[in-house]
Amino acid sequence: MASPTVILLLPLALGWLSSSVTTHVYDGSNSVFLVERRRSLPKGFIFATSTAAYQVEGAWNASGKGENIWDQMVHTNPGFIADRSNGDTACNSYNLYKDDIKLIKDLGFRMYRFSISWSRVLPDGTTRQINEPGLKYYDDLINELISQGIEPMVTLYHWDLPVALQNMGGWLNRTIVDYFQDYADLIFARFGSKVKWWITINEPFSIETIWQGHNILKAHARAFRLYKAKYWHHGGKLSISLDSTAAFPKNSSNEEDVRSCERYMQFQLGWFAHPIFSTYGDYPAVMRDLIDNNSAREGRNFSRLPYFTVKEIEQIRGTFDFFALNHYSSRMCTNGKRGQSPSWSRDMEVYAYFNASWPPSQSSWLKVVPEGFRKLLNWINFEYNEPEIFVTENGFSDYNVLDDQGRINYLKGYLSEMEKAIYEDGCNVTGYTVWSVLDNFEWRAGYTERFGLVHVDFESPLKTRTKKASAAFIKDYIEANSAWISTGS
Ligand code: BGC
Repeated sequence: MASPTVILLLPLALGWLSSSVTTHVYDGSNSVFLVERRRSLPKGFIFATSTAAYQVEGAWNASGKGENIWDQMVHTNPGFIADRSNGDTACNSYNLYKDDIKLIKDLGFRMYRFSISWSRVLPDGTTRQINEPGLKYYDDLINELISQGIEPMVTLYHWDLPVALQNMGGWLNRTIVDYFQDYADLIFARFGSKVKWWITINEPFSIETIWQGHNILKAHARAFRLYKAKYWHHGGKLSISLDSTAAFPKNSSNEEDVRSCERYMQFQLGWFAHPIFSTYGDYPAVMRDLIDNNSAREGRNFSRLPYFTVKEIEQIRGTFDFFALNHYSSRMCTNGKRGQSPSWSRDMEVYAYFNASWPPSQSSWLKVVPEGFRKLLNWINFEYNEPEIFVTENGFSDYNVLDDQGRINYLKGYLSEMEKAIYEDGCNVTGYTVWSVLDNFEWRAGYTERFGLVHVDFESPLKTRTKKASAAFIKDYIEANSAWISTGS
C-alpha cells in the first residue's frame, strides 16, 4: 500500500485541480498534518466596491437629519482636519446616488457596500423619533441598486455616532447596546427583505478604546442575535468588518520576533476577532495575561481589560456568517515597549514599524505590501478554523491623479496575492471589495488623500466624477474573471 504521503501528493503532482473540500491528512513520518488544498476558485465570487455615509453623502442637515459626531467636530474644530474641510457636501451622493450606481455598474461590480447614517434615520439615535425622509433616501438607494442588478451590502455603523448618544457617553455607556439594537431592529424591519448582506459595525479597532470596544462587541452580538431570532426568514448573512495589517518578524529566524508578531496579531485583530470567531470566545489569552498583570502592577484592583460574564462570552461567540476583513498594509515586528504607560501598545510589548523598502502611498500608514495580504488571509484561515472570508475593504491612496499607476500596481499586487491565497493555500475567500469607488472625505485627512477609482472634483458645484486609469484596470480584471465566477471553472 502506498504511504499516506504518496496518496496525498500524487494528485497534486498530476496537476489535479478539482477538489473543493479542504481535508487534513496525517503524515505519520514527520508528525505533521499535511493539507490538501482547495484547487478551484469559488463559484459566485463577488467583486464589490464601497463607501461610507459621512464620507460621500453630504446633505449633513437635510430633511430632518440629526447631527452626528463628525458634523459636530468639523464645525467646532475645523483645525482637526488636515485641510480644514468637512463632509457637509462631500461627493453629494445624497443627491447623485443614481450617477454613482451607474458608475459602479459600468465598472462591472456586482455589489455595493455602503453605510447608513444613524442620525439620518434616527435624529437623536433613539427610536423615539423616526425620520421617514432619511429612511426613504436609503430605500430609494437600495431600490435603484437592485433595479440595476447590484447587490447591496449595508453597514449599520461606520463611525458617525448621533451626537445625542455621544452626549450620554457614546460607546462608553453600556445602554448604547440597547440603542444599537433598536436601530438595527428598525433597519432590518425596513430593508430586511431586500438586503441580504449586513455589516453591523466597521473597524472597532480603528476608533475605539478598550472599554468602548467591550460595548461594541456586545452591540454587534445583540444585532446579530436579533436578526437570527426575528429576521432569519430573509436568509441574510451578517458579520462585523475587522481591520488588520499583516505582521512580519524583523528576523524570521529569531523566535522572539516571531512571537512578537503573534502578539501583535492578537492585540490588533484578535482583540475583536477572538471573542466572535474563535472556538472558545472571549479575549485572546495573551491580552488577558499581559493587561491583567500590568493592571495589578499599577496597583489597580481591577483589570484595564474588562471581563465578560460566561453568558456574555457565549452570546458573542459565533455571531458571524462570514469573516469580513478590511486590509490595507503591513508592519514589521520585534520586541519593544513603546507608547505611554498604560496604553495598548505598551501592554503589547511590540515595536511595530514599516520596512524602509515598502513603497509609499499618500497616507503615512499605508505602505504597499502585497505579500502581507496572502499572509493575513492564511493567518485568519488557520486561526479561526477556515471561515468564509469576504474582503470588505482594500485600496490605495494618492492625490489628484487621473493616470493612477500607483493604484493599478497596488491592486494588481494585492489581487494576485489573494489569488494565491485561494488557489495555492485553500483560503475560502468569496468576495473582494475595492475601497473606494469615489474619492471622498478621508476623515482627519479631509480631501488630501484620495482612494477613489473615480476622481471627484470637490471644487466643482456638480462634484464632477471622472474615471481614473484604475477604473479601466478593475473593469478589465473583473471581465477577465467573469467566466470562472459564473461557472466555477
Ligand atoms: C475605513 C474607511 C477609510 C479607509 C481609508 C478604512 O479603515 O473603513 O472609512 O476611508 O480605511 O483610510
